[in-house]
Amino acid sequence: TKPAFFQVAIDGPASAGKSTIAKILASQLHFVYVDTGAMYRTVTVAAKKAGLSYEDEAGITALLPKITIEFKPGNPVQRVFLNGEEVTEAIRSTEVTNNVSLVSSYAAVRTDMVDKQRAMTESNPVIMDGRDIGTTVLPNAQVKIFLVASVDERAERRYKENKEKGMAVDLETLKKEIEERDYKDSHRAISPLTKAKDAIEVDTTGIGIDDVVAKIKTIIEEHQA
Ligand code: DC
Repeated sequence: TKPAFFQVAIDGPASAGKSTIAKILASQLHFVYVDTGAMYRTVTVAAKKAGLSYEDEAGITALLPKITIEFKPGNPVQRVFLNGEEVTEAIRSTEVTNNVSLVSSYAAVRTDMVDKQRAMTESNPVIMDGRDIGTTVLPNAQVKIFLVASVDERAERRYKENKEKGMAVDLETLKKEIEERDYKDSHRAISPLTKAKDAIEVDTTGIGIDDVVAKIKTIIEEHQA
């Protein structure tokens, strides 16, 4: 059964360009953009603010009912709020990036986020990006894209982004962090990162953003007809 409102699922490894591309497509097509990685990052920030260890699965599970996550439009990135407090920058810190895979592996965290994500599809078309959207969150999505790029290129992109923000992390360290996160995200017990059987793989290595956007837009339009 097809969802009442159109759904586009974009999954793939860290720094493959999912959020950049999903955001542009959402604004061109007038779909709501849901950045599910930002939600897991927000839970990670909430754990830290509550003084919990990232290893404390029971503590983080107990914290979930007290967490509200909101997205608000912003440029160049969507703004994110945890219990009314802005965490747009906090969720991108190196500490959060290096601990979010652990926090997002907890069963209760996943159940809670998946419920919230599905609720966001009930009254409007969506483009949702993450790791398990095509496989678990929106298994009936009309379009499923699996976005990949070489690890070298992904590290380069992250390096450039960091440099623009004034963050000095060397390329080799970034490459290791990306590989480590991909490994954890692909090997966890519950809904690990995998390509859905019916997903279309798009390799963005050496391809500019505009070309990737155009290619995926064509795929979406074919499915809308
Ligand atoms: O997309 P991102 O890099 O901001 O995601 C951060 C982390 O959140 C990612 O390393 C694993 C987790 N995540 C997840 O488990 N499931 C999703 N649908 C999205 C992200």
